[in-house]
Amino acid sequence: MDENSIRDKLLTSEIKTVHRSWSDAQSSPYTSINLSVLIPKERITFNLYLKVAQKGSQDVSYPLFLKEGEAWERQWLDLLTQKGIDRLYFLNEDLELVIGYLNNYMQVLKYESAKVTPELLAVFSEQLHYSIRKAYQSPRFGPGVQKAQALVEDLIESLQQDPGAMKLVWKVLYHNFNLYTHSINLCLIGTAFMLFLKKAPKESRDLGLAGLFHDIGMTRIPQEIILKDGPLTPGERAEVNHHPAMGHRLLSKGTSLAYLPNEVLRLSLEHHENADGSGYPLGLPLNRQHPWTRIMRLLDTYEALTVTRPYRAAYKPFEAVKILQEARGPRGPIYDPQTLKLFIAFLITE
Ligand SMILES: [Fe+2]
Ligand SMILES: [Fe+2]
Repeated sequence: MDENSIRDKLLTSEIKTVHRSWSDAQSSPYTSINLSVLIPKERITFNLYLKVAQKGSQDVSYPLFLKEGEAWERQWLDLLTQKGIDRLYFLNEDLELVIGYLNNYMQVLKYESAKVTPELLAVFSEQLHYSIRKAYQSPRFGPGVQKAQALVEDLIESLQQDPGAMKLVWKVLYHNFNLYTHSINLCLIGTAFMLFLKKAPKESRDLGLAGLFHDIGMTRIPQEIILKDGPLTPGERAEVNHHPAMGHRLLSKGTSLAYLPNEVLRLSLEHHENADGSGYPLGLPLNRQHPWTRIMRLLDTYEALTVTRPYRAAYKPFEAVKILQEARGPRGPIYDPQTLKLFIAFLITE
């Protein structure tokens, strides 16, 4: 069935479309996208499919609705809306293209209005879902990360009900895309590792939330320092080292958040504290740190080591683990050896 005939058939009600929320699509090769985040009159950069059922049958198929390079016209939106359809589908392998497309849309909206509009938050909301989905696909987090999927998607959905929380996550993305993906990855891997440690779902989810917001203080560090290619001057380093205290302050007054456990505040402040007491900002010994601080400290560095930087390739998981094992401060290991042992088990456990 070509795309013209599928559109004609839709007009004449010859086919039955299928309505499902997109969370059920985990094993499907297609992911759904909300029609409201397609840019009016702009060419789409990926194929869009419709989900239909044959009459009298449960079998579904995904005929092509709009081809990559075709413009998203008002008439398609009207036609689908009339039929009560608010989502189309794209192939999972196009996920990166879709994230790029939504990033462009957000740039356009940001250009049109200095304020964070509900329209922008709607596009961002969809982008956040896809970014999480992409994060799962990274082999560097091990197979166990899949187990966090339901809990993280639940957490993200509850954040999406809270414009204050969404604005805060948007702030991270708007400041720096790498910081945003780093924060999402920590949310995911933090939740998964806690589940591996047999912690309760609520605690696992709280650590995930702490991962999402741990570096929020970085949004107060000037772009030129974050994006600097070469080594930082002592003055710049001092400024960066201020981000835990700034993040803590930001979250303490971020009262627009309906749900913010105390751990999120504690970890934003303590996530650069070392196991030997040589970290910053407080230089706390292990026994005075929050019990989750050593987890966040370790995951934070592991995530940072295993991504590509402009000045170096990404470390392989075993190389990153070796670096963590060998890292020593003036009074002993920087990363808690017991936690590291458990983390290695987590990386290889299905
Ligand atoms: Fe940090
Ligand atoms: Fe971090």
